[in-house]
Amino acid sequence: MLTVTTRCYRSPDEIDLAVFAEVPRTAQWWWAHPTVVAQDERGTLIGYASFSLSLPPTVTLAELQPRAIGWGQGMAVHPEFRGRGIGQQLIEARVRVLHELGVHFFIGHAAPANTAMAALFARQGLTPAATLPQADGTDLIYYMGAL
Ligand SMILES: CC(C)(COP(=O)(O)OP(=O)(O)OC[C@H]1O[C@@H](n2cnc3c(N)ncnc32)[C@H](O)[C@@H]1OP(=O)(O)O)[C@@H](O)C(=O)NCCC(=O)NCCS
Repeated sequence: MLTVTTRCYRSPDEIDLAVFAEVPRTAQWWWAHPTVVAQDERGTLIGYASFSLSLPPTVTLAELQPRAIGWGQGMAVHPEFRGRGIGQQLIEARVRVLHELGVHFFIGHAAPANTAMAALFARQGLTPAATLPQADGTDLIYYMGAL
């Protein structure tokens, strides 16, 4: 039986996460992006979900951006462990941390073909809001909604 625990990122998690992170990331990137990780019963890392925060910058500018926004900054589950609900557990852990920070609005993104992420975002209550072209010629769908 697989027992999964979620916890916040700590160094040197970046070494294990590099094995299956969907894009290569530097140690500085991990430090700059709050991340929750999933580990199995032996402590082996099998998934992560990161985010960044966009806060109303000043009281005056809060009129332009009235609420804090959590932005998805990537997530992945080790290929051998996909389809077992670990992605869902990571999403729930990320939402718990955002709620602790007082953040109740979220924007995430995924490639149009990424049906697993589309399912995860839908279950999180997010809806597709825009499809935007990227510099590399591909599209990304942006999902957003209240948490
Ligand atoms: C996306 C990803 C994190 C999902 O993790 P996971 O642990 O497999 O997710 P879960 O087991 O919690 O399943 C979540 C949903 O995706 C669906 N799903 C899982 N694997 C799937 C697959 N290969 N194809 C289609 N749907 C899939 C599940 O059925 C579930 O949907 P449901 O809630 O409607 O039942 C994982 O597939 C992954 O690491 N992919 C590569 C990296 C990536 O695409 N990251 C996102 C970048 S934005």
